[in-house]
Amino acid sequence: MDLQTRNQYMKAMGIPVWMPRVTPADEDQETMPADAAQLAPAAFQSPIPEQDETYNTPSAPTQHISLEQRLAQTADIPTAPPTAPVAEKTAESVIPVKIAPDCSQLNWSQLQQSVVDCQLCGLHKSRAQTVFGVGDTQSDWMIIGEAPGAEEDKQGQPFVGRAGRLLNNMLAAVGLPRNAVYISNVLKCRPPNNRDPKADEATLCRGYLERQIALVNPKLIIVVGRIAAHNLLHTTTPLGRLRGTVHTLPDSDTPVIVTYHPAYLLRQPAEKRKAWQDLQLARQVMAAK
Ligand code: URA
Repeated sequence: MDLQTRNQYMKAMGIPVWMPRVTPADEDQETMPADAAQLAPAAFQSPIPEQDETYNTPSAPTQHISLEQRLAQTADIPTAPPTAPVAEKTAESVIPVKIAPDCSQLNWSQLQQSVVDCQLCGLHKSRAQTVFGVGDTQSDWMIIGEAPGAEEDKQGQPFVGRAGRLLNNMLAAVGLPRNAVYISNVLKCRPPNNRDPKADEATLCRGYLERQIALVNPKLIIVVGRIAAHNLLHTTTPLGRLRGTVHTLPDSDTPVIVTYHPAYLLRQPAEKRKAWQDLQLARQVMAAK
């Protein structure tokens, strides 16, 4: 890496001078030390627009038939075999109450509609809207995060809050404008108060992400954060130990690189150097393809 590239990256990521001021409205899961809030955020300006209509996901109509109805109506789409029953405990017994749908035959618009219609877990009650995914559906690169936060819930797009702006800068630093990748999350609905996703929520949502991955068919997936890494790789290994290795998705040879969540990097700017190393590794993996 030459000095100029490094400096651009440092500037883009705000490493030497910047720590952001985080308000409850813009970075949900994260809090900032009090002294960090005093430091000027001006050094950290996004090199690309925060929002760009070119990568907006078209907003979907709100009144729809259910996924099950659509599947039943679509002759060439098999009805969903039960893939992952999720049990609910009652006083007497444990009974399966929800079945994750099989999305494996859906096209993009069917899949997006399924997500809009989804009421499989309780998160549909508190969401403002679903957050499907955004970007180039034919990209070689896919970025997967955890779940929408407050801003994403409002705008219907992943990674549009302060963490999203840092993610944009990280991608730009390795020559990837946001609209050149495909970005999605493990969960398509915001957990209340940005709590961690529950296991049953992730299980019920998994089919949507799996189908997104299959449709994009990326050459490389970058997973940001512990929750997304654990869900994607079916592991509980600490994130620090997942970094620096090229993983593959279970049941596929798609390479996966794990790095820190940008919200964590907002809190721990010193770790941005490690994120830079992770992105360099990603670049190397791609270059070898
Ligand atoms: N954090 C995530 O993991 N995903 C988003 O879309 C926003 C914040």
